[in-house]
Amino acid sequence: MGHIFLYGPSGTGKSIIGKLLAQNLKLPFIDLDRVIETKAGMPIRQIMEAHGEPAFRDLETAALRESVGHAFSAIPSHDKVIALGGGALLHNENRTFAESNGRIIVLMAELDTLIARLESDSNKRPLLAGDLREQLTSLLAKRREHYNSFPLRVDVDSLTVEQNVRAVQIALGRHHLSAMGEYDVIVQENGAKCLGEMLKSRGLHNPIVVTDDIIAPFHLDEMLACLQASGFEPKSVILPAGEGQKNLETVSRMWKSFLENGLDRKSTIIALGGGVIGDLAGFAASTYMRGINWVGVPTTLLSMVDASLGGKTGFDLPEGKNLIGSFHPPKLVLADPQLLQTLPERELRSGVAEVVKHGILSDPELFSLCSRGLDWIKADLENIVKRAMAVKIKIIEEDPYEKGFRAALNLGHTVGHAIELVSKFELRHGEAIAIGTVVEAKYAERIGLAEKGLSESIAKTLNELGLPVQIPKELRKEEILRAMRVDKKKDSKVIRFALPVEIGKVELVAVADLKDILEE
Ligand SMILES: NC(=O)c1ccc[n+]([C@@H]2O[C@H](COP(=O)([O-])OP(=O)(O)OC[C@H]3O[C@@H](n4cnc5c(N)ncnc54)[C@H](O)[C@@H]3O)[C@@H](O)[C@H]2O)c1
Ligand SMILES: [Zn+2]
Repeated sequence: MGHIFLYGPSGTGKSIIGKLLAQNLKLPFIDLDRVIETKAGMPIRQIMEAHGEPAFRDLETAALRESVGHAFSAIPSHDKVIALGGGALLHNENRTFAESNGRIIVLMAELDTLIARLESDSNKRPLLAGDLREQLTSLLAKRREHYNSFPLRVDVDSLTVEQNVRAVQIALGRHHLSAMGEYDVIVQENGAKCLGEMLKSRGLHNPIVVTDDIIAPFHLDEMLACLQASGFEPKSVILPAGEGQKNLETVSRMWKSFLENGLDRKSTIIALGGGVIGDLAGFAASTYMRGINWVGVPTTLLSMVDASLGGKTGFDLPEGKNLIGSFHPPKLVLADPQLLQTLPERELRSGVAEVVKHGILSDPELFSLCSRGLDWIKADLENIVKRAMAVKIKIIEEDPYEKGFRAALNLGHTVGHAIELVSKFELRHGEAIAIGTVVEAKYAERIGLAEKGLSESIAKTLNELGLPVQIPKELRKEEILRAMRVDKKKDSKVIRFALPVEIGKVELVAVADLKDILEE
Protein backbone atom coordinates (compact mmCIF):
# COMPACT_ATOMS: atom_id res chain seq x y z
CA MET A 1 0.00 0.00 0.00
CA GLY A 2 1.10 3.57 -0.56
CA HIS A 3 0.09 5.58 2.47
CA ILE A 4 1.98 8.82 3.01
CA PHE A 5 3.15 9.49 6.56
CA LEU A 6 4.21 13.04 7.44
CA TYR A 7 6.61 13.07 10.33
CA GLY A 8 9.01 15.46 12.10
CA PRO A 9 9.09 17.85 15.04
CA SER A 10 6.09 19.86 16.21
CA GLY A 11 5.84 23.18 14.46
CA THR A 12 6.91 22.02 11.00
CA GLY A 13 3.32 22.19 9.75
CA LYS A 14 2.54 18.48 9.37
CA SER A 15 -1.21 19.05 9.78
CA ILE A 16 -1.61 22.02 7.47
CA ILE A 17 0.78 20.60 4.85
CA GLY A 18 -0.87 17.19 5.18
CA LYS A 19 -4.34 18.63 4.62
CA LEU A 20 -3.35 20.45 1.42
CA LEU A 21 -1.26 17.49 0.22
CA ALA A 22 -4.26 15.18 0.65
CA GLN A 23 -6.45 17.66 -1.20
CA ASN A 24 -3.98 17.84 -4.12
CA LEU A 25 -3.65 14.07 -4.29
CA LYS A 26 -7.41 13.49 -3.81
CA LEU A 27 -6.70 11.24 -0.81
CA PRO A 28 -8.29 11.14 2.65
CA PHE A 29 -6.40 12.96 5.40
CA ILE A 30 -5.90 11.77 8.97
CA ASP A 31 -4.33 13.80 11.77
CA LEU A 32 -3.27 11.11 14.22
CA ASP A 33 -3.15 13.38 17.29
CA ARG A 34 -6.75 14.45 16.66
CA VAL A 35 -7.80 10.80 16.32
CA ILE A 36 -6.20 10.01 19.69
CA GLU A 37 -7.87 12.97 21.36
CA THR A 38 -11.28 12.05 19.98
CA LYS A 39 -10.96 8.46 21.13
CA ALA A 40 -9.70 9.40 24.58
CA GLY A 41 -12.21 12.21 24.92
CA MET A 42 -9.53 14.61 26.18
CA PRO A 43 -6.64 16.68 24.86
CA ILE A 44 -3.19 15.04 24.63
CA ARG A 45 -1.87 17.27 27.39
CA GLN A 46 -4.50 15.84 29.73
CA ILE A 47 -3.81 12.25 28.63
CA MET A 48 -0.13 12.75 29.46
CA GLU A 49 -0.87 14.36 32.82
CA ALA A 50 -3.42 11.78 33.85
CA HIS A 51 -1.79 8.60 32.50
CA GLY A 52 1.82 9.42 31.61
CA GLU A 53 3.75 9.30 28.32
CA PRO A 54 3.93 5.47 28.00
CA ALA A 55 0.13 5.23 28.11
CA PHE A 56 -0.10 7.95 25.46
CA ARG A 57 2.37 6.06 23.26
CA ASP A 58 0.20 2.94 23.50
CA LEU A 59 -2.84 4.92 22.36
CA GLU A 60 -0.72 6.33 19.53
CA THR A 61 0.34 2.85 18.38
CA ALA A 62 -3.26 1.65 18.38
CA ALA A 63 -4.47 4.74 16.50
CA LEU A 64 -1.72 4.34 13.88
CA ARG A 65 -2.74 0.75 13.14
CA GLU A 66 -6.41 1.60 13.01
CA SER A 67 -5.89 4.59 10.70
CA VAL A 68 -3.93 2.58 8.20
CA GLY A 69 -6.82 0.12 7.93
CA HIS A 70 -6.90 -3.59 7.57
CA ALA A 71 -4.33 -4.90 5.17
CA PHE A 72 -6.15 -8.20 4.72
CA SER A 73 -9.58 -6.78 4.03
CA ALA A 74 -11.15 -7.97 0.77
CA ILE A 75 -12.02 -4.40 -0.20
CA PRO A 76 -8.91 -2.59 -1.37
CA SER A 77 -8.42 0.29 1.02
CA HIS A 78 -7.45 3.70 -0.31
CA ASP A 79 -4.09 5.30 0.29
CA LYS A 80 -4.24 8.06 2.88
CA VAL A 81 -2.15 11.00 4.01
CA ILE A 82 -1.46 10.59 7.72
CA ALA A 83 0.13 13.33 9.86
CA LEU A 84 1.96 11.77 12.81
CA GLY A 85 2.86 13.20 16.21
CA GLY A 86 6.50 14.28 16.64
CA GLY A 87 7.49 11.07 18.47
CA ALA A 88 5.12 8.57 16.87
CA LEU A 89 7.87 6.51 15.22
CA LEU A 90 10.30 6.43 18.14
CA HIS A 91 9.09 2.89 18.82
CA ASN A 92 10.76 0.64 16.28
CA GLU A 93 7.60 -1.37 15.97
CA ASN A 94 5.67 1.71 14.77
CA ARG A 95 8.42 2.67 12.38
CA THR A 96 8.51 -0.78 10.78
CA PHE A 97 4.73 -0.76 10.55
CA ALA A 98 4.68 2.64 8.78
CA GLU A 99 7.55 1.69 6.47
CA SER A 100 5.80 -1.46 5.35
CA ASN A 101 2.53 0.37 4.68
CA GLY A 102 3.77 3.35 2.74
CA ARG A 103 6.38 6.07 2.72
CA ILE A 104 7.48 8.38 5.49
CA ILE A 105 8.53 11.92 4.75
CA VAL A 106 10.17 13.99 7.47
CA LEU A 107 9.52 17.72 7.60
CA MET A 108 12.40 19.61 9.24
CA ALA A 109 12.97 23.24 10.22
CA GLU A 110 15.51 25.40 12.02
CA LEU A 111 15.04 25.92 15.73
CA ASP A 112 14.00 29.56 15.29
CA THR A 113 11.32 28.67 12.75
CA LEU A 114 9.89 26.09 15.13
CA ILE A 115 9.93 28.50 18.06
CA ALA A 116 8.17 31.20 16.06
CA ARG A 117 5.45 28.79 15.02
CA LEU A 118 5.02 27.10 18.39
CA GLU A 119 5.01 30.18 20.57
CA SER A 120 1.37 30.79 19.83
CA ASP A 121 0.17 27.35 20.95
CA SER A 122 2.77 25.86 23.28
CA ASN A 123 0.12 24.98 25.85
CA LYS A 124 -1.19 22.29 23.51
CA ARG A 125 2.18 20.53 23.43
CA PRO A 126 2.87 19.00 26.80
CA LEU A 127 6.42 17.88 26.07
CA LEU A 128 7.31 21.49 25.34
CA ALA A 129 5.84 23.07 28.48
CA GLY A 130 8.09 25.55 30.29
CA ASP A 131 10.79 27.58 28.52
CA LEU A 132 10.07 26.84 24.89
CA ARG A 133 13.58 27.42 23.49
CA GLU A 134 15.20 25.33 26.18
CA GLN A 135 12.70 22.50 25.89
CA LEU A 136 12.77 22.44 22.14
CA THR A 137 16.57 22.50 22.00
CA SER A 138 16.81 19.50 24.28
CA LEU A 139 13.99 17.61 22.53
CA LEU A 140 15.60 18.19 19.11
CA ALA A 141 19.02 17.17 20.42
CA LYS A 142 17.51 13.90 21.61
CA ARG A 143 15.61 13.24 18.40
CA ARG A 144 17.82 14.71 15.67
CA GLU A 145 19.57 11.46 14.89
CA HIS A 146 16.22 9.70 14.79
CA TYR A 147 14.73 12.23 12.31
CA ASN A 148 17.89 12.17 10.21
CA SER A 149 17.64 8.41 9.84
CA PHE A 150 14.66 8.74 7.45
CA PRO A 151 15.74 9.04 3.80
CA LEU A 152 12.98 11.37 2.56
CA ARG A 153 12.95 14.87 3.97
CA VAL A 154 11.87 18.39 3.14
CA ASP A 155 13.17 21.53 4.87
CA VAL A 156 10.21 23.81 5.38
CA ASP A 157 11.87 26.97 6.70
CA SER A 158 11.54 29.64 4.07
CA LEU A 159 8.70 28.33 1.96
CA THR A 160 4.95 28.97 1.87
CA VAL A 161 2.54 26.11 2.60
CA GLU A 162 1.89 25.70 -1.13
CA GLN A 163 5.62 25.57 -1.90
CA ASN A 164 6.16 23.09 0.91
CA VAL A 165 3.42 20.85 -0.44
CA ARG A 166 4.98 20.99 -3.90
CA ALA A 167 8.39 20.13 -2.44
CA VAL A 168 6.80 17.18 -0.59
CA GLN A 169 5.09 16.00 -3.80
CA ILE A 170 8.36 16.18 -5.73
CA ALA A 171 10.25 14.34 -3.00
CA LEU A 172 7.56 11.66 -2.92
CA GLY A 173 7.17 11.57 -6.70
CA ARG A 174 3.43 11.69 -6.39
CA HIS A 175 0.87 13.85 -8.21
CA HIS A 176 -2.79 13.81 -9.15
CA LEU A 177 -3.64 15.41 -12.47
CA SER A 178 -7.12 16.70 -13.13
CA ALA A 179 -6.99 19.32 -15.88
CA MET A 180 -7.55 16.66 -18.58
CA GLY A 181 -9.01 13.49 -17.04
CA GLU A 182 -8.22 12.43 -13.46
CA TYR A 183 -5.13 10.35 -12.90
CA ASP A 184 -2.26 9.76 -10.55
CA VAL A 185 1.37 10.09 -11.58
CA ILE A 186 3.67 8.06 -9.37
CA VAL A 187 7.48 7.82 -9.43
CA GLN A 188 8.58 4.83 -7.43
CA GLU A 189 11.78 2.80 -7.43
CA ASN A 190 10.70 -0.83 -8.10
CA GLY A 191 7.13 0.44 -8.39
CA ALA A 192 6.47 -1.81 -11.41
CA LYS A 193 6.37 -4.71 -8.97
CA CYS A 194 3.34 -3.12 -7.29
CA LEU A 195 1.43 -2.41 -10.51
CA GLY A 196 -1.16 -5.12 -9.81
CA GLU A 197 -2.09 -3.61 -6.46
CA MET A 198 -2.22 -0.14 -8.01
CA LEU A 199 -4.64 -1.39 -10.68
CA LYS A 200 -6.80 -3.07 -8.06
CA SER A 201 -7.03 -0.02 -5.83
CA ARG A 202 -8.17 2.01 -8.86
CA GLY A 203 -10.79 -0.51 -9.96
CA LEU A 204 -8.96 -1.30 -13.21
CA HIS A 205 -9.61 -4.72 -14.74
CA ASN A 206 -8.40 -7.25 -17.26
CA PRO A 207 -4.97 -5.89 -18.20
CA ILE A 208 -3.21 -6.42 -21.52
CA VAL A 209 0.43 -5.32 -21.70
CA VAL A 210 1.52 -3.68 -24.95
CA THR A 211 5.28 -3.52 -25.40
CA ASP A 212 7.98 -3.82 -28.09
CA ASP A 213 10.34 -6.64 -29.02
CA ILE A 214 13.39 -4.93 -27.51
CA ILE A 215 11.80 -4.22 -24.13
CA ALA A 216 9.89 -7.52 -23.84
CA PRO A 217 12.93 -9.77 -23.15
CA PHE A 218 14.00 -7.45 -20.32
CA HIS A 219 10.78 -6.63 -18.55
CA LEU A 220 7.67 -8.39 -19.85
CA ASP A 221 7.82 -11.69 -17.96
CA GLU A 222 8.39 -9.96 -14.68
CA MET A 223 5.48 -7.62 -15.26
CA LEU A 224 3.14 -10.48 -16.21
CA ALA A 225 4.23 -12.45 -13.13
CA CYS A 226 3.56 -9.46 -10.87
CA LEU A 227 0.11 -8.97 -12.34
CA GLN A 228 -0.61 -12.67 -11.89
CA ALA A 229 0.48 -12.48 -8.27
CA SER A 230 -2.21 -9.83 -7.77
CA GLY A 231 -4.86 -12.18 -9.14
CA PHE A 232 -5.05 -10.96 -12.75
CA GLU A 233 -4.81 -13.11 -15.87
CA PRO A 234 -2.81 -10.65 -17.97
CA LYS A 235 -2.42 -10.84 -21.76
CA SER A 236 0.28 -9.25 -23.87
CA VAL A 237 0.98 -7.88 -27.35
CA ILE A 238 4.56 -7.48 -28.57
CA LEU A 239 5.12 -4.98 -31.40
CA PRO A 240 8.27 -4.46 -33.46
CA ALA A 241 10.34 -1.60 -31.94
CA GLY A 242 11.04 1.79 -33.45
CA GLU A 243 9.60 5.06 -34.72
CA GLY A 244 9.12 3.39 -38.13
CA GLN A 245 6.36 1.29 -36.55
CA LYS A 246 4.38 4.30 -35.33
CA ASN A 247 1.78 4.02 -38.06
CA LEU A 248 -1.80 3.00 -38.78
CA GLU A 249 -0.84 -0.58 -39.68
CA THR A 250 0.53 -1.12 -36.19
CA VAL A 251 -2.55 0.44 -34.61
CA SER A 252 -4.75 -1.79 -36.68
CA ARG A 253 -2.70 -4.81 -35.62
CA MET A 254 -3.28 -3.85 -32.00
CA TRP A 255 -7.04 -3.46 -32.44
CA LYS A 256 -7.22 -6.96 -33.96
CA SER A 257 -5.12 -8.40 -31.19
CA PHE A 258 -7.38 -6.78 -28.57
CA LEU A 259 -10.39 -8.45 -30.23
CA GLU A 260 -8.64 -11.83 -30.37
CA ASN A 261 -7.80 -11.52 -26.69
CA GLY A 262 -11.43 -10.79 -25.84
CA LEU A 263 -10.88 -7.24 -24.57
CA ASP A 264 -14.08 -5.40 -23.70
CA ARG A 265 -14.94 -1.89 -22.60
CA LYS A 266 -13.79 -2.64 -19.06
CA SER A 267 -10.32 -3.88 -20.02
CA THR A 268 -7.13 -1.94 -19.34
CA ILE A 269 -4.20 -1.46 -21.71
CA ILE A 270 -0.78 -1.22 -20.08
CA ALA A 271 1.74 0.64 -22.25
CA LEU A 272 5.11 -0.77 -21.19
CA GLY A 273 7.64 1.14 -23.28
CA GLY A 274 9.08 4.37 -24.57
CA GLY A 275 7.26 7.23 -26.26
CA VAL A 276 6.49 5.15 -29.35
CA ILE A 277 4.66 2.45 -27.39
CA GLY A 278 2.95 5.07 -25.19
CA ASP A 279 1.67 7.04 -28.18
CA LEU A 280 0.54 3.92 -30.06
CA ALA A 281 -1.07 2.06 -27.15
CA GLY A 282 -2.69 5.26 -25.88
CA PHE A 283 -4.16 5.92 -29.31
CA ALA A 284 -5.39 2.33 -29.67
CA ALA A 285 -6.99 2.69 -26.21
CA SER A 286 -8.67 5.94 -27.22
CA THR A 287 -10.34 4.35 -30.22
CA TYR A 288 -10.98 0.69 -29.33
CA MET A 289 -14.70 0.35 -28.53
CA ARG A 290 -14.86 4.16 -28.46
CA GLY A 291 -12.25 4.42 -25.77
CA ILE A 292 -11.05 2.17 -22.96
CA ASN A 293 -8.75 2.68 -19.96
CA TRP A 294 -5.00 2.66 -20.26
CA VAL A 295 -2.04 2.96 -17.94
CA GLY A 296 1.42 4.25 -18.85
CA VAL A 297 4.52 2.47 -17.58
CA PRO A 298 7.27 4.46 -19.35
CA THR A 299 10.60 2.68 -19.84
CA THR A 300 12.74 5.47 -21.36
CA LEU A 301 13.85 8.63 -19.59
CA LEU A 302 12.27 10.64 -22.38
CA SER A 303 8.90 8.99 -21.97
CA MET A 304 9.01 9.35 -18.17
CA VAL A 305 9.67 13.07 -18.16
CA ASP A 306 7.80 13.99 -21.32
CA ALA A 307 5.81 11.62 -23.56
CA SER A 308 3.84 9.82 -20.82
CA LEU A 309 2.47 13.09 -19.43
CA GLY A 310 -0.24 15.21 -20.95
CA GLY A 311 -2.64 12.81 -22.63
CA LYS A 312 -1.44 13.26 -26.23
CA THR A 313 -1.56 10.00 -28.18
CA GLY A 314 -1.14 9.26 -31.89
CA PHE A 315 0.90 8.02 -34.79
CA ASP A 316 2.84 9.23 -37.84
CA LEU A 317 1.92 9.51 -41.51
CA PRO A 318 4.50 9.28 -44.29
CA GLU A 319 3.95 13.06 -44.64
CA GLY A 320 5.01 13.85 -41.06
CA LYS A 321 5.29 12.88 -37.42
CA ASN A 322 2.32 12.76 -35.03
CA LEU A 323 -0.13 14.00 -37.64
CA ILE A 324 -2.96 11.77 -36.44
CA GLY A 325 -3.87 11.59 -32.77
CA SER A 326 -6.19 12.23 -29.90
CA PHE A 327 -6.21 13.53 -26.36
CA HIS A 328 -6.84 10.46 -24.20
CA PRO A 329 -5.24 10.68 -20.75
CA PRO A 330 -4.30 7.44 -18.99
CA LYS A 331 -5.75 6.31 -15.65
CA LEU A 332 -2.31 6.09 -14.09
CA VAL A 333 1.31 6.81 -15.00
CA LEU A 334 3.84 4.76 -13.08
CA ALA A 335 7.49 5.69 -13.59
CA ASP A 336 9.86 3.12 -12.13
CA PRO A 337 13.46 4.38 -12.54
CA GLN A 338 14.66 0.81 -12.09
CA LEU A 339 13.36 0.05 -15.60
CA LEU A 340 15.94 2.48 -17.00
CA GLN A 341 18.79 0.17 -15.99
CA THR A 342 18.48 -1.68 -19.31
CA LEU A 343 18.17 1.44 -21.47
CA PRO A 344 21.05 1.94 -23.95
CA GLU A 345 23.20 4.95 -23.07
CA ARG A 346 22.40 6.83 -26.26
CA GLU A 347 18.67 6.65 -25.39
CA LEU A 348 19.39 7.82 -21.86
CA ARG A 349 21.33 10.84 -23.17
CA SER A 350 18.47 11.63 -25.52
CA GLY A 351 16.12 11.77 -22.51
CA VAL A 352 18.59 13.90 -20.57
CA ALA A 353 18.24 16.59 -23.28
CA GLU A 354 14.56 16.93 -22.31
CA VAL A 355 15.52 17.02 -18.62
CA VAL A 356 17.91 19.91 -19.33
CA LYS A 357 15.09 21.59 -21.25
CA HIS A 358 12.80 21.27 -18.21
CA GLY A 359 15.52 22.79 -16.05
CA ILE A 360 15.77 25.77 -18.42
CA LEU A 361 11.97 26.12 -18.42
CA SER A 362 11.49 26.50 -14.69
CA ASP A 363 13.87 24.59 -12.44
CA PRO A 364 17.37 26.13 -12.22
CA GLU A 365 18.38 23.56 -9.60
CA LEU A 366 17.53 20.73 -12.01
CA PHE A 367 19.68 22.45 -14.64
CA SER A 368 22.62 22.66 -12.27
CA LEU A 369 22.16 19.01 -11.27
CA CYS A 370 22.46 18.14 -14.97
CA SER A 371 25.61 20.24 -15.23
CA ARG A 372 27.33 17.75 -12.94
CA GLY A 373 27.54 15.23 -15.77
CA LEU A 374 26.09 11.93 -16.91
CA ASP A 375 27.62 9.72 -14.21
CA TRP A 376 26.13 11.88 -11.54
CA ILE A 377 22.73 11.80 -13.28
CA LYS A 378 22.86 8.01 -13.52
CA ALA A 379 23.53 7.77 -9.81
CA ASP A 380 20.60 10.03 -8.97
CA LEU A 381 18.05 9.05 -11.61
CA GLU A 382 15.08 8.80 -9.27
CA ASN A 383 15.52 12.39 -8.10
CA ILE A 384 16.14 13.63 -11.66
CA VAL A 385 12.97 11.90 -12.91
CA LYS A 386 10.91 13.32 -10.04
CA ARG A 387 12.06 16.91 -10.60
CA ALA A 388 11.78 16.80 -14.39
CA MET A 389 8.29 15.26 -14.31
CA ALA A 390 7.15 17.93 -11.85
CA VAL A 391 8.09 20.69 -14.32
CA LYS A 392 5.92 19.27 -17.10
CA ILE A 393 3.06 18.40 -14.74
CA LYS A 394 2.81 21.98 -13.49
CA ILE A 395 2.66 23.32 -17.04
CA ILE A 396 0.10 20.86 -18.40
CA GLU A 397 -2.13 21.26 -15.38
CA GLU A 398 -2.25 25.00 -16.01
CA ASP A 399 -2.71 24.74 -19.79
CA PRO A 400 -3.78 21.19 -20.77
CA TYR A 401 -4.84 21.99 -24.36
CA GLU A 402 -1.89 24.24 -25.29
CA LYS A 403 -3.86 27.47 -25.50
CA GLY A 404 -0.96 29.40 -24.00
CA PHE A 405 2.08 28.58 -21.92
CA ARG A 406 2.13 24.82 -22.63
CA ALA A 407 3.82 25.90 -25.86
CA ALA A 408 6.87 26.66 -23.69
CA LEU A 409 7.49 22.90 -23.70
CA ASN A 410 8.44 23.37 -27.36
CA LEU A 411 11.69 25.02 -26.32
CA GLY A 412 14.35 23.71 -28.71
CA HIS A 413 11.72 21.79 -30.66
CA THR A 414 10.85 24.09 -33.56
CA VAL A 415 14.44 23.99 -34.75
CA GLY A 416 15.04 20.51 -33.23
CA HIS A 417 12.16 18.79 -35.07
CA ALA A 418 13.36 20.22 -38.37
CA ILE A 419 16.92 19.02 -37.73
CA GLU A 420 15.63 15.57 -36.72
CA LEU A 421 13.66 15.35 -39.94
CA VAL A 422 16.42 16.62 -42.24
CA SER A 423 18.88 14.18 -40.60
CA LYS A 424 16.40 11.49 -41.71
CA PHE A 425 16.16 10.46 -38.05
CA GLU A 426 19.88 9.64 -37.91
CA LEU A 427 19.87 11.94 -34.91
CA ARG A 428 17.85 10.76 -31.90
CA HIS A 429 15.05 13.11 -30.87
CA GLY A 430 16.93 14.37 -27.81
CA GLU A 431 20.11 14.95 -29.81
CA ALA A 432 18.21 17.13 -32.27
CA ILE A 433 16.52 18.95 -29.37
CA ALA A 434 19.91 19.65 -27.77
CA ILE A 435 21.06 21.35 -30.98
CA GLY A 436 17.72 23.15 -31.33
CA THR A 437 17.88 24.45 -27.76
CA VAL A 438 21.33 25.98 -28.30
CA VAL A 439 20.38 27.49 -31.68
CA GLU A 440 17.25 29.04 -30.16
CA ALA A 441 19.16 30.32 -27.12
CA LYS A 442 21.72 32.00 -29.41
CA TYR A 443 18.86 33.72 -31.24
CA ALA A 444 17.36 34.83 -27.91
CA GLU A 445 20.71 36.43 -27.07
CA ARG A 446 20.98 38.14 -30.46
CA ILE A 447 17.59 39.82 -30.09
CA GLY A 448 18.46 40.92 -26.55
CA LEU A 449 15.86 38.67 -24.86
CA ALA A 450 18.40 36.51 -23.07
CA GLU A 451 21.33 37.58 -20.99
CA LYS A 452 24.76 37.29 -22.64
CA GLY A 453 26.45 33.95 -22.08
CA LEU A 454 23.23 31.98 -21.66
CA SER A 455 23.61 29.96 -24.86
CA GLU A 456 27.20 29.18 -23.94
CA SER A 457 26.27 27.88 -20.53
CA ILE A 458 23.48 25.72 -22.02
CA ALA A 459 25.84 24.43 -24.75
CA LYS A 460 28.51 23.60 -22.17
CA THR A 461 26.10 21.56 -20.05
CA LEU A 462 24.66 19.67 -23.03
CA ASN A 463 28.08 19.10 -24.59
CA GLU A 464 29.51 17.67 -21.37
CA LEU A 465 26.57 15.28 -21.30
CA GLY A 466 27.74 13.97 -24.66
CA LEU A 467 25.00 15.69 -26.66
CA PRO A 468 25.60 17.55 -29.94
CA VAL A 469 25.17 21.33 -29.82
CA GLN A 470 25.84 22.41 -33.42
CA ILE A 471 23.96 21.76 -36.63
CA PRO A 472 25.93 19.03 -38.45
CA LYS A 473 27.65 20.48 -41.54
CA GLU A 474 26.06 17.97 -43.88
CA LEU A 475 22.54 19.24 -43.07
CA ARG A 476 21.61 22.10 -45.38
CA LYS A 477 20.15 25.22 -43.76
CA GLU A 478 17.61 25.72 -46.57
CA GLU A 479 16.25 22.27 -45.91
CA ILE A 480 16.01 22.93 -42.19
CA LEU A 481 14.16 26.18 -42.89
CA ARG A 482 11.76 24.41 -45.22
CA ALA A 483 11.12 21.75 -42.61
CA MET A 484 10.45 24.43 -39.98
CA ARG A 485 7.88 26.06 -42.21
CA VAL A 486 5.88 22.87 -42.62
CA ASP A 487 6.12 21.99 -38.93
CA LYS A 488 2.61 21.56 -37.61
CA LYS A 489 3.18 24.19 -34.95
CA LYS A 490 3.24 26.96 -37.51
CA ASP A 491 0.72 29.78 -37.37
CA SER A 492 -0.48 31.15 -40.71
CA LYS A 493 2.28 33.80 -41.01
CA VAL A 494 4.55 33.67 -38.01
CA ILE A 495 5.98 30.83 -35.94
CA ARG A 496 5.83 31.18 -32.18
CA PHE A 497 9.07 30.16 -30.49
CA ALA A 498 9.62 29.34 -26.86
CA LEU A 499 12.83 31.23 -26.12
CA PRO A 500 14.95 31.20 -22.96
CA VAL A 501 15.35 34.45 -21.04
CA GLU A 502 17.51 32.94 -18.31
CA ILE A 503 17.85 29.51 -16.71
CA GLY A 504 14.40 28.98 -15.21
CA LYS A 505 12.49 31.39 -17.44
CA VAL A 506 11.12 31.10 -20.97
CA GLU A 507 9.00 33.47 -23.08
CA LEU A 508 6.85 32.85 -26.14
CA VAL A 509 7.96 35.03 -29.03
CA ALA A 510 6.57 35.32 -32.55
CA VAL A 511 9.26 35.21 -35.22
CA ALA A 512 8.35 36.55 -38.64
CA ASP A 513 11.54 35.83 -40.55
CA LEU A 514 12.78 32.32 -39.88
CA LYS A 515 16.13 32.94 -41.57
CA ASP A 516 17.16 35.06 -38.56
CA ILE A 517 16.97 32.02 -36.30
CA LEU A 518 19.68 30.09 -38.09
CA GLU A 519 22.10 33.00 -38.51
CA GLU A 520 25.31 32.59 -36.57
N1 LIG B 1 2.75 12.09 -26.47
C1 LIG B 1 3.60 13.04 -26.23
O1 LIG B 1 3.28 14.05 -25.61
C2 LIG B 1 5.03 12.88 -26.68
C3 LIG B 1 6.00 13.75 -26.18
C4 LIG B 1 7.32 13.55 -26.57
C5 LIG B 1 7.64 12.52 -27.44
N2 LIG B 1 6.67 11.70 -27.90
C6 LIG B 1 6.99 10.60 -28.82
O2 LIG B 1 7.87 9.70 -28.17
C7 LIG B 1 8.62 8.99 -29.15
C8 LIG B 1 10.04 8.90 -28.70
O3 LIG B 1 10.08 8.19 -27.47
P1 LIG B 1 11.39 7.44 -26.96
O4 LIG B 1 12.54 8.34 -27.06
O5 LIG B 1 11.01 6.87 -25.65
O6 LIG B 1 11.64 6.34 -28.08
P2 LIG B 1 11.21 4.80 -28.25
O7 LIG B 1 9.90 4.52 -27.68
O8 LIG B 1 11.42 4.50 -29.69
O9 LIG B 1 12.33 4.04 -27.41
C9 LIG B 1 13.67 4.15 -27.79
C10 LIG B 1 14.33 2.78 -27.96
O10 LIG B 1 14.66 2.26 -26.69
C11 LIG B 1 14.13 0.95 -26.51
N3 LIG B 1 13.78 0.84 -25.10
C12 LIG B 1 12.81 1.50 -24.46
N4 LIG B 1 12.86 1.25 -23.15
C13 LIG B 1 13.87 0.41 -22.94
C14 LIG B 1 14.44 -0.19 -21.77
N5 LIG B 1 13.97 0.09 -20.55
N6 LIG B 1 15.48 -1.02 -21.93
C15 LIG B 1 16.00 -1.25 -23.18
N7 LIG B 1 15.52 -0.69 -24.30
C16 LIG B 1 14.49 0.13 -24.19
C17 LIG B 1 12.97 0.88 -27.46
O11 LIG B 1 12.72 -0.44 -27.84
C18 LIG B 1 13.45 1.73 -28.62
O12 LIG B 1 14.26 0.95 -29.46
C19 LIG B 1 8.43 9.75 -30.44
O13 LIG B 1 7.61 9.00 -31.29
C20 LIG B 1 7.75 11.03 -30.04
O14 LIG B 1 6.89 11.52 -31.04
C21 LIG B 1 5.38 11.86 -27.55
ZN1 LIG C 1 10.78 16.36 -27.14
